[in-house]
Amino acid sequence: MSRKILVTGASGWLGIAIVQALLARGDQVVALDLRSSPASLALATRHPELTLAEADLGEWSQVVDVFKAHGPTAVVHTAAIVGVVLAADVPIKTLRVNTEGSINLFEAMRLHGVKRVVHLSTEETYGDFTAPVITEDHPQKPNSVYGLTKLAAEHYGRVYTDRYGLECINVRTCWVYGPNLPRARVPKVFIDAALDGTAYHLTAGGDLAVDQVYIDDTVAGVLLALDKKNHRFDAYHIATGQAPTIDDVARFVREFVPGANVSTAPGLYLHGDRFPTARKGALDISRARQELGYSPQYDLRAGIEKSILEARAERTAKRAGGIGP
Ligand SMILES: NC(=O)c1ccc[n+]([C@@H]2O[C@H](COP(=O)([O-])OP(=O)(O)OC[C@H]3O[C@@H](n4cnc5c(N)ncnc54)[C@H](O)[C@@H]3O)[C@@H](O)[C@H]2O)c1
Repeated sequence: MSRKILVTGASGWLGIAIVQALLARGDQVVALDLRSSPASLALATRHPELTLAEADLGEWSQVVDVFKAHGPTAVVHTAAIVGVVLAADVPIKTLRVNTEGSINLFEAMRLHGVKRVVHLSTEETYGDFTAPVITEDHPQKPNSVYGLTKLAAEHYGRVYTDRYGLECINVRTCWVYGPNLPRARVPKVFIDAALDGTAYHLTAGGDLAVDQVYIDDTVAGVLLALDKKNHRFDAYHIATGQAPTIDDVARFVREFVPGANVSTAPGLYLHGDRFPTARKGALDISRARQELGYSPQYDLRAGIEKSILEARAERTAKRAGGIGP
């Protein structure tokens, strides 16, 4: 039976990268999002095996209509209100999309006999890390609206797995970075400043140690989780297993962009200058290595170098009037 993968949040940053990776290996793809993006519209013109489905995951009837119309065989679920600050500003909408939307998805899967979903989850479901390196068994006590709604989606998945035989697999990734990251976060803020020739000084949080994973490695981990025949576990860390500091990020940017005026100061890292971060660290990736054969290709230094190369290429293309990614 040919595979037809439904990707929710397919216009989003990780969603479109996953769509591209699935198309590249010959899968049929249904790309669900509130609206198709210029990038997904462009992809659809080149790939007849890509179908665009505009639907609101929070609306049950729209979700089930997508299943009726397109008959997916498996799901990669990335749609969400993403980020600690954004979610805190719209807590009810976040509950509706991240949690209720996930339930709508699981119900539609149950009714249409679709078993496998890989849910993009997050280290925010843990709250404060109690050790510098944590495994998937670490207690999940989120202290953000975002983390709480993502944890609820994970738990609903467990109920649907136990009761209805779904296979809801959670890929817990950490701070993903790479070209075109859609939010003002490191390393993007440092790289943009460095390439613009402006200064960027982070006034606190330089000593925050956090696992940062290059987007290609996250996408590779998602596909491995999607493809594995029988899962012994329902959660995997797809990260690097290391926790460099934010100051390391600035240091690598200075190394690859000579003259870059980017720096940090120690102290409490604030999300969006407002919300103190939970205590972070590294996500142990032994389980993903052993069970999925996951092997990240980029440590932070290599990922920063690649991000800078990509950002430079994008700027050159824009200046030349070409089309960016
Ligand atoms: N980017 C990261 O660093 C990171 C880290 C850990 C986990 N994640 C998880 O990865 C997933 C994707 O993150 P991202 O960075 O690509 O975010 P993103 O904001 O770029 O993408 C999310 C997509 O979901 C779509 N969406 C929102 N509400 C919807 C609705 N009601 N119906 C249908 N679509 C809707 C948005 O339109 C958007 O295209 C999320 O589930 C997030 O929790 C991301």
